[in-house]
Amino acid sequence: MTHLDPTAHHDSTLASTTESGARRESDAHSLSVGADGPLMLHDVALVEKLARFDRERIPERSPHAKGSGAFGELEITEDVSQYTKAGLFQKGAKTPMLARFSTVAGELGSPDTWRDVRGFALKFYTEEGNFDIVGNNTPVFFLRDPMKFPDFIHSQKRTPDSGLRDATMQWDFWTLSPESAHQVTYLMGDRGLPKTWRHMNGYSSHTYLWVNEAGEKFWVKYHFLTEQGMEFLSNEEADEIAGSDADYHRRDLFESIKGGEFPSWRLEVQVMPYEDAKTYRFNPFDLTKTWSKKDYPRIPVGRFTLNQNPVNHFAQIEQAAFSPSNTVPGTGVSPDKMLLGRVFSYPDAHRNRLGTNFNQLPVNRPVVPTNSYDKEGAMQFFHSGDAPVYAPNSFGRGYQDAQGPVDNGWEADGAMVRSAYSLHAEDDDFGQAHTLVREVMDEAARERLVETVAGALDGVIEPVLSNAFQYWKNIDQEVGEKIEARVKGA
Ligand code: HEM
Repeated sequence: MTHLDPTAHHDSTLASTTESGARRESDAHSLSVGADGPLMLHDVALVEKLARFDRERIPERSPHAKGSGAFGELEITEDVSQYTKAGLFQKGAKTPMLARFSTVAGELGSPDTWRDVRGFALKFYTEEGNFDIVGNNTPVFFLRDPMKFPDFIHSQKRTPDSGLRDATMQWDFWTLSPESAHQVTYLMGDRGLPKTWRHMNGYSSHTYLWVNEAGEKFWVKYHFLTEQGMEFLSNEEADEIAGSDADYHRRDLFESIKGGEFPSWRLEVQVMPYEDAKTYRFNPFDLTKTWSKKDYPRIPVGRFTLNQNPVNHFAQIEQAAFSPSNTVPGTGVSPDKMLLGRVFSYPDAHRNRLGTNFNQLPVNRPVVPTNSYDKEGAMQFFHSGDAPVYAPNSFGRGYQDAQGPVDNGWEADGAMVRSAYSLHAEDDDFGQAHTLVREVMDEAARERLVETVAGALDGVIEPVLSNAFQYWKNIDQEVGEKIEARVKGA
């Protein structure tokens, strides 16, 4: 049925029509009583055009509003079947996919080159259902409990009175949430200003679960390593571009792909045997921590390439709905509290932003048939005809009732508490941030860090400013002292 094809209506050889399909008399002139006279309410074409225009905008994403993306393919080149039975990760598998890159704090029109973490969201249209990894260009995050996420985003966006962004508010939140130190160090380092989206790595950041055919479980972290090389902008370049081309990153991706230059990323994973989690020196589910590559080296899995631009940004990118809740057999979530919070939050955001039937939109629709008893709601398009609408039923429509342990679960017990995780040997807020500053950054990178933080502290008022100096001294005494001296003009 051609009328199910979302682009079939648009034939440039046809006359323009109203939305109900009747020929429009004019796209240029309203119906008036005489050439100079008043307009007519029954000018269906004008009323429809204005009313539709009034409703063009949908809510932007609450965080990560500004971004863009492209379609491509994931190819698995290595055998990782000893760790997961998921079809998309079997050697030789090729899976169509969508990627969307974004800034976190900016609104839809914000410059791409403001310093920020970058979103790195992937949707794989697998034969076992959609599988999404909704990560960032950094391997850690600012928080370890979802209860703080809305406060964090509020602090990075705008003040209630002036509607301005405010450095005091940002640093106030960070310094009072010391678990942010590792990610703030990444953000204030080079990764806060990637040259383009093509020149940055992506990370699941969270720990996820893999399950193999034999039912053995492993903890896994996904790394997407850019084959274009990591490159960054200086503060000056980023500021200049923010003023001259707010859509610099969006343009770069679109034009590269249009010109036949297809960006690609290698997929590698860190795999932790299930039992190691209890005794690893860092809590492996704490999103503010990485796993040392010495302890768990990266294992190659495959690569993905982006080779197809959207033909309609709104339909294919703005309406895309990525969610860490989209898992497939052989994969699962983990006890990471942030991840568990996100599993609720994303589909909830999609229902609000796109409507209850968001999974029926072509960009979100799985390539496999869906067969659920969920029904109706605004804009339902696909349906199950006159099949039974309740389960269980005696009339032949699928009904599952698996019971007992799930193969992608884990054990938990204890009294209900509100608490951080129980501590592992080297868990603390500043240790890994210190390692990043001292062992990963070289002297030049540390110098850039000092300059960037000092700049970012411009205008911050007390007591937040002193707290910020202390926060950086906790990360690294020397760097903290240099930042303080720079801000105080010493
Ligand atoms: C977008 C919530 C943490 C990466 C979003 C959206 C919400 C949200 C509501 C907008 C979704 C939409 O309208 O489509 C949360 C909550 C978090 C959290 C509640 C913590 C509890 C994280 C973390 C990461 C992340 C840790 C990365 C590791 C992203 C990305 C997007 C996004 C990449 C944009 C997805 C896209 O391109 O459509 N988040 N988030 N978020 N979030 Fe989070």
